[in-house]
Amino acid sequence: MQKSKRSIAVMNQKGGVGKTTTVVNLGAALAGAGQRVCLIDLDPQAHTSMHLKLDPDPEQPSIYDALAGKVSLAEIRRQVAENLWAIGSNLDLAAAEIELSGVVGREQILRDKLAEDSTSFDYLLIDCPPSLGILTLNALAAVDEVFIPLQPHFLALHGLSKLLDTIELVAARLADAVLEGKAEQKTSAKAAAEGGDAPAEGEQAAGKPKAKRPAPKPPKT
Ligand SMILES: Nc1ncnc2c1ncn2[C@@H]1O[C@H](COP(=O)(O)OP(=O)(O)OP(=O)(O)O)[C@@H](O)[C@H]1O
Ligand SMILES: [Mg+2]
Repeated sequence: MQKSKRSIAVMNQKGGVGKTTTVVNLGAALAGAGQRVCLIDLDPQAHTSMHLKLDPDPEQPSIYDALAGKVSLAEIRRQVAENLWAIGSNLDLAAAEIELSGVVGREQILRDKLAEDSTSFDYLLIDCPPSLGILTLNALAAVDEVFIPLQPHFLALHGLSKLLDTIELVAARLADAVLEGKAEQKTSAKAAAEGGDAPAEGEQAAGKPKAKRPAPKPPKT
């Protein structure tokens, strides 16, 4: 995919702080100003979908089906206004937290889906659920920026420090994964150029043990 010029996840594990309101109104304002905008509702509460009058019918494919690998993002994206597209959610998405918990690379499913998508936008805005689970981690892995709405009081700021720790941790893990991926690609290309067999996908390059890094600390909760 040609990447969106700006990709922003609107997140805060605290509920009712204005995430959905921000995504819907910012998206509509940017679209009104002539920018091509895609909104992704990553919250099982499906509030963004309701705002945009996307049918939260569990029979219709939603972002849940995309994360489960059943459909592409293009198949579930709907144009809701001029310059404005949206990918809806429904209550099924609540099951994704549990169903994806055993999947390898579970935090990067949305990022991979976006990479397969051939349509590009000026802005990609993701509405996250009020939790720091797999859905929010998928949003973090898929974007370049985060926007954190919050009320300016002590407990909200305390929660913010935990969220910032998580963002830092995910960014560090992704940077490691990208570096490892690049190193493996280089080794495959070199082996191919020398006439040797390139290692199969996911296979360790011969004689080049993958650098071991300490297991990352789990996010503080
Ligand atoms: N900037 C704002 N000023 C005052 N009220 C706001 C503002 N933004 C949102 N609200 C109100 O706060 C309430 C919660 O907003 P919203 O649904 O956007 O929060 P949320 O963070 O998405 O909630 P959830 O975590 O449940 O998804 C709504 O009633 C909304 O109208
Ligand atoms: Mg919301």
